[in-house]
Amino acid sequence: MTQKPNPDPGPLAAARRIVDQAQNFAVLSGAGISAESGLATFRDSDGLWEQHRVEDVATPEAFERDPRLVWRFYNARRKAAHSTRPNAGHIALARLEELGKSVHILTQNVDGLHQRAGSAKVTELHGSAWRVRCTGCGAKSTDHPIELHVLPYCDKCSALLRPDIVWFGEALDPADLAAAARALEACQVFLVVGTSAQVQPAASLAFQAVELGKSVIEINKAPTLLSASATISLIGLAGDMLPRLVSGFGH
Ligand code: OAD
Repeated sequence: MTQKPNPDPGPLAAARRIVDQAQNFAVLSGAGISAESGLATFRDSDGLWEQHRVEDVATPEAFERDPRLVWRFYNARRKAAHSTRPNAGHIALARLEELGKSVHILTQNVDGLHQRAGSAKVTELHGSAWRVRCTGCGAKSTDHPIELHVLPYCDKCSALLRPDIVWFGEALDPADLAAAARALEACQVFLVVGTSAQVQPAASLAFQAVELGKSVIEINKAPTLLSASATISLIGLAGDMLPRLVSGFGH
């Protein structure tokens, strides 16, 4: 009987080898990583943008027009995020760090689940559902009930408070973009997890990683705009794939 020479180890085994050998990671995450925690994504068939129009709840104009509607939307996001917990995908990324790797997470998510899973270095590119900002004095605060009073006002200057989220038509914080650029430059492996890679400038980080010759490993339940250019594209659920990618190292 002849044995097959060099059987194809499959994309997961190849990705594991890359991850095992690298020390420095940047991770671009999107709503898909929190899907298995029960939080809705945006563009899937059951996603938030199927039930709400972006123009009604996620633009500065929407907030000017109907702040109550916007606050109700974000109160619902806060309530949902509060009542769930990080899943195996978030936990696997935190574990990668525990194993001595440098891991910088660049998340488009505003739910705080990476931090709750124990990841230490998290840049929230689109802001945080847990932080609010005064439209008058600009003060930022986090000490609020899970669902804020509709409408909430600033203790200091009495102006209306808004969610500290980067809405469509608004610029990302330059400090966050600079942190993302540094993470991209420093990493050997750029993981892209649970994002449709459609929203700029976050998505462009993944394409820049490809151009810079980084090992780009994508995990998504379906192919995306990035899949064809990624070094390895793993089709599967983040909560299943990430633990399989990370488990077993450091022993
Ligand atoms: P999207 O809803 O656009 O994409 C979610 C992606 O996750 C899709 O590609 C799904 O195939 C994938 N997915 C879903 N469940 C998954 C699972 N369990 N495991 C792996 N992949 C899964 O969400 P984002 O790409 O995060 O911005 O969207 C980017 C930005 O657009 C958001 O931050 C938000 C939105 O409008 C603002 O609200 C400012």
